[in-house]
Amino acid sequence: MRTRVIAGNWKMHKTVAEGRALARAIREGLGGAPSCEVILAPPFTALEAVGAEIAGSPIGLAAQNVHWEEAGAFTGEISPRMLEDVGCSAVLIGHSERRQYFGETDRTVNLRVRAALRSTLAPIVCVGESLADRESGRHEDIVAQQLAGGLDGLTAGDLERIILAYEPVWAIGTGRTASPETAQEMHGFIRRTLAGKFGADAGRVRIVYGGSVKPDNTAALMRQPDIDGALVGGACLEAKSFLGIIRHEP
Ligand code: 13P
Repeated sequence: MRTRVIAGNWKMHKTVAEGRALARAIREGLGGAPSCEVILAPPFTALEAVGAEIAGSPIGLAAQNVHWEEAGAFTGEISPRMLEDVGCSAVLIGHSERRQYFGETDRTVNLRVRAALRSTLAPIVCVGESLADRESGRHEDIVAQQLAGGLDGLTAGDLERIILAYEPVWAIGTGRTASPETAQEMHGFIRRTLAGKFGADAGRVRIVYGGSVKPDNTAALMRQPDIDGALVGGACLEAKSFLGIIRHEP
C-alpha cells in the first residue's frame, strides 16, 4: 500500500559533467519503470543538468536543503521557488550533517518543512540519534523530540506529501548499518508517534532508512514492515551500486 522510495543523497559530490554522466547511467540502467520510486538529490550546482538528463523518465529530482523565505537578502540560500524552477519535486530537510555541522535545529527544520509544504516540494525530513544517545538509551526520546519540533503545526493532510528518513548518525558513512530489527524498532516507534499526533494517516506515511545501505543489505531491511525505502549516501555515487539497491529483491 505504500510505494517504496529509494533516494540517493549525493551530498557534496559530483561536478555538473560527472552528475550528468551518473544520472544518465542510472536512467539507462533502470530500463522501464522501476517498481519503486527513485529520487536523485545532487548538489545545487548539478540540479539543472541532472534534471535535464532524467526529464521524461520516472526518476524524481530533489535538492539537499531549502530556505524558508520566498526571496530576499539571504546570501547563500535557495528558495522553494528556485528549486521548483529547476524541476525539483522534493527536498531533503534536517539531514544530520546539517544539524551537526551547520547549526540546523528542530526549529529551522520546521521552518523549512513548512516552506516546502507551501510550495509543491515534498519534504524528506531526516531524524536520527547519535551514538551517545543510543548508548545511553535515549534514542527514542531524541527522535520523538525531533519529530515534535520538526513537524510542529502540521496537519494530518500535510503528512501526505512528507517522507520521513530515519538515519542513525552512528550508521552514516561508517559501514555500520543498523540491523533490520534495530531499524524496524525505530521505524515502528516513529509510526506510532506519528499516529499519536496525526491519527490514522500515519499508516500512509513512508518512512525510509538511511545509514550504510548497500546492495547486499537492502533486501533484509526492506522486508521489515515499517521500512518503506532507503536514503542512500556512499552507494548512490556509482550507478552499479545504486541500481543494485533499486533492484533489491524484497
Ligand atoms: P551513507 O549511505 O554513506 O551511510 O549515507 C547515508 C546518508 O547520510 C544519506 O543521507
